Amino acid sequence: MSKKLKISVIGTGYLGATHAACISNLGFEVIGIDTDQAKIDSLSRGELPFYEPGLDELLVAELKTGRLTFTTDFAAAADADVHFICVGTPQSKDSLAADLTYVESAITNIAPHARSGSLIAGKSTVPVGTAQRLSAILAKSAPNVELAWNPEFLREGFAVEDTLRPNRLVVGVTSDKAENILKEVYKSLIDAGTPWIRADLPTAELVKVAANSFLATKISFINAMAEICEAAGGDVTVLAKAIGYDPRIGSRFLQAGIGFGGGCLPKDIRAFMARAEELGAMQALEFLREIDAINVRARQRVIDVVRGELSEDLTQYRLAVLGAAFKPDSDDVRDSPALDIAAQLQAAGSSVVVHDPKAIANAKKRFPNLNFATTVEECVTGADLILHLTEWREYRELSPSAIKALVKGAIIIDGRNALDRDKWVVAGWRFHALGRTPV
Ligand code: UDX
Repeated sequence: MSKKLKISVIGTGYLGATHAACISNLGFEVIGIDTDQAKIDSLSRGELPFYEPGLDELLVAELKTGRLTFTTDFAAAADADVHFICVGTPQSKDSLAADLTYVESAITNIAPHARSGSLIAGKSTVPVGTAQRLSAILAKSAPNVELAWNPEFLREGFAVEDTLRPNRLVVGVTSDKAENILKEVYKSLIDAGTPWIRADLPTAELVKVAANSFLATKISFINAMAEICEAAGGDVTVLAKAIGYDPRIGSRFLQAGIGFGGGCLPKDIRAFMARAEELGAMQALEFLREIDAINVRARQRVIDVVRGELSEDLTQYRLAVLGAAFKPDSDDVRDSPALDIAAQLQAAGSSVVVHDPKAIANAKKRFPNLNFATTVEECVTGADLILHLTEWREYRELSPSAIKALVKGAIIIDGRNALDRDKWVVAGWRFHALGRTPV
């Protein structure tokens, strides 16, 4: 067996920090690089700058082995065999397209240090064609460094699990050599039975956006069915259960409610549309416009429900919002439907108090004018109505009768179809969920 590969991970945000700790866990020497000194200092101390279950323990354990280190100095990766690019590709400020500034500067920064024969493997989600374009640039600045694309499918809240036990590994490569290097990195996962898919560069880039578009479509599909159920007096939760038993459909990602948010799904479908437009293939993705519109409409529908339950004029009301993160087990509030709804209700004149087990600090940064509570009790006391918008386990475990003793009005809107309706109704609550008849 040849010498163990050395790995660099460029960009130590959510994806990069997880990838660096996990690759170190596979037994490799890993150097994590970021231009943000504060982030590097924090990670070096074993402190995660964000919340992700299980990752903090893994980070501390890997730092202790001595295999994992962090730096702002790109030159420190000069002897690495593989450089993983894990920087963000957010939505551009002035269009639907992805902003590729960070990917481009990561490659430009590492190129002068990357040793001859090493491999750069992009993990960031990029518009199709990016890898080929960057390969051409790299060919000039670092002719003996190859570029591959190895998309990441990790979910927030399950990042470690998804990295160490992925349901597939996809590599876009232009040579057997590049594929073999990546096979060496992922050997233990491949040995454990993880399916391995070799693709060309454009296909590898497309796999990621196609997967996220499919997931977004599934969610918007069930939310469209929720709208129909409301109009026809049906129950979307029963409908989802019934269609989900068909294995061709499957029951996951059919949870109707206020829709998808986060740092991936919304921006990825928009960037995909923008890229299809550039490619002259927009017709193929017209449906994604509708997927986006259904998703945005779900947020508005909740506000309409609040108005229907209280009054058109919301200025006299105190509303309690349970949940600010875009999904449970995360402190991420990027494009969070919960927080967006809270802000819109506040803009409509009501007094809104938001609670979240982990995301308050991030929520405050985005909406400093909202009111925040540190406990559920503080959040709901004196409220005219409660909105349940992020399905944290602790909200499912609340006692409806204990909460009833604190509120002014016993009305709850379940924006996630995750609460036990019977339990709340028996305790004397008016219960309204998207896609179901209110009781
Ligand atoms: C997603 C993809 O799942 C992951 O593979 C990719 O790498 C990154 O984007 P993530 O953003 O962490 O992961 O969240 P995900 O679990 O997919 O949820 C996205 C949003 O959809 C959340 O706001 C969630 O609340 C919502 N959702 C999910 C629903 O509204 N209904 C569902 O049935 C499932």
